[in-house]
Amino acid sequence: MKVIIRDTMEESSVWAARYIAKKINEKAAKTNEPFVIGLCTGSTPIETYKELIRLVKAGEVSFKNVISFNMDEYVHLPVNHPESYHSFMHKYLFDHIDEPAENIHILDGNAPDLKKECEEYEKKIAAAGGFDLFLGGIGEDGHIAFNEPFSSLNSRTRVMTLTYDTRVVNSRFFDNDVNKVPKQAMSVGVATVTGAKEVVILAFGPKKAKAIAASIEGPVSGYCTLSVLQLHPAATIVCDDLAVGELKYNSVKYFKAVEAAEAE
Ligand code: PGA
Repeated sequence: MKVIIRDTMEESSVWAARYIAKKINEKAAKTNEPFVIGLCTGSTPIETYKELIRLVKAGEVSFKNVISFNMDEYVHLPVNHPESYHSFMHKYLFDHIDEPAENIHILDGNAPDLKKECEEYEKKIAAAGGFDLFLGGIGEDGHIAFNEPFSSLNSRTRVMTLTYDTRVVNSRFFDNDVNKVPKQAMSVGVATVTGAKEVVILAFGPKKAKAIAASIEGPVSGYCTLSVLQLHPAATIVCDDLAVGELKYNSVKYFKAVEAAEAE
């Protein structure tokens, strides 16, 4: 596992966006096969998406041959609700880049058969060739996508019941009223994420510091699902200074030394 640490969220986000663009360009230089990416929502990726949009507009990367699958969506929230992840993705990314509409996949939280929708999603990911890169955030409880504590580390896309804590955290998007936050969401599983060739996680701010420390220095555990990245051969966690506030001093020093040595 690598941990990239920058002073601010903005610097971390620029690093992440340029890294993703580099990966897309590297694959495009080798093959005509599409680049398959997993995408996340929330406050965390907004700056990364801003930089990706800038790079697309500057002609430094193109999403014409990118296929994306979003990691989650609320159950039974109307698709055009401002806080649906469909709305979020179009507002913060898809409306500003050149990814063809048919390449965009987001779970349908209003599908008549949610179980079938989840199974079909896994099939579509497999048919696309699996993920080249999965971009995610982390919840304050250490969740990756909506894989709340006690999720199986072998889980696949399914309907998840959100913890009360996650609903309280997300109530900031729903007039600060926890009762307006859907109780369930559809989410890719932990194994859907770890099936990616590469996983990039963003974590910013002091509220993520405990979960980051538990994921990196704690045991691998379904109680903190991001900790599964300790078993992944190509995982990178991109943090600002505040998000590494609970890591041991020596851990931070080591991760910075690794980055410096690789840059030489
Ligand atoms: P956030 O959510 O980016 O809004 O903090 C991240 C998450 O819950 O995974």
